Amino acid sequence: MNAKQAIKVENLVKNFGKGDSFVEVINGASFEVNKGELVALVAPSGAGKTTLLMMIGCVEEPTNGTIWLGEEKIYDNKWLTKETRKIRREKIGFIFQAHYLIPFLNILENITLVPQTNGVSEEESKKIAFELLKYFEIEDKAYAMTSELSGGQNQRAAIARALANKPQIILADEPTAALDSKRSVDVVKMLKKIAIEQDVAVIMVTHDEAMLPLCDRILKIENKQVVSSKIVKDKVIL
Ligand SMILES: Nc1ncnc2c1ncn2[C@@H]1O[C@H](COP(=O)(O)OP(=O)(O)O)[C@@H](O)[C@H]1O
Ligand SMILES: [Mg+2]
Repeated sequence: MNAKQAIKVENLVKNFGKGDSFVEVINGASFEVNKGELVALVAPSGAGKTTLLMMIGCVEEPTNGTIWLGEEKIYDNKWLTKETRKIRREKIGFIFQAHYLIPFLNILENITLVPQTNGVSEEESKKIAFELLKYFEIEDKAYAMTSELSGGQNQRAAIARALANKPQIILADEPTAALDSKRSVDVVKMLKKIAIEQDVAVIMVTHDEAMLPLCDRILKIENKQVVSSKIVKDKVIL
């Protein structure tokens, strides 16, 4: 395990169901993602992208294999901790296609909810939230409800929420699918900036080829395994 490594996966396997409903989704995936890297995860629909993110995010239990988050081996044919929820809360930030902000809380409350759940004081949580809102240039929306924000502003607020627990890893599942191309570029550039400035590993599922040159590397699911390819001078080498 090198110091730059945020995620390491070895021989990961995921099957669903039994008998007639048995599906083998991932079979022997091995890859690593470093801190500071923005990596795109691409594969056809149904290939297992969401399943892979959910295993790394300690939401979905793998069938077999090994997962390290940072220095910690969290899965080795079984969860190595009973505290998967704690790992998820403290180490991982999730971003989805829909923003999933809570509609009856204002933007500030949506963001402070995360650190407060982790035991951070209200005052400190607000300080973190305002720093993030400022960073994402939606400070003036702190006391607004999600219905008063545009799609792009809500997605920025959702990214702010994902960062509020100072995660080591951000897992973004098609975060730009609901945005137009300009907003999509803005969001991906923002994720890149976060990766560099906060030394966070970001894995982003995307179907949008225009986003790939903005990423550092591409992970593809092929034959139920994960292959890595480089992006060179705005051209994707597959
Ligand atoms: N909870 C589940 N039970 C059974 N099959 C599932 C479950 N979740 C996902 N699958 C199956 O796993 C495969 C991969 O799904 P998914 O990870 O959602 O793919 P993607 O995100 O690449 O579109 C699909 O065949 C899907 O039907
Ligand atoms: Mg999916």
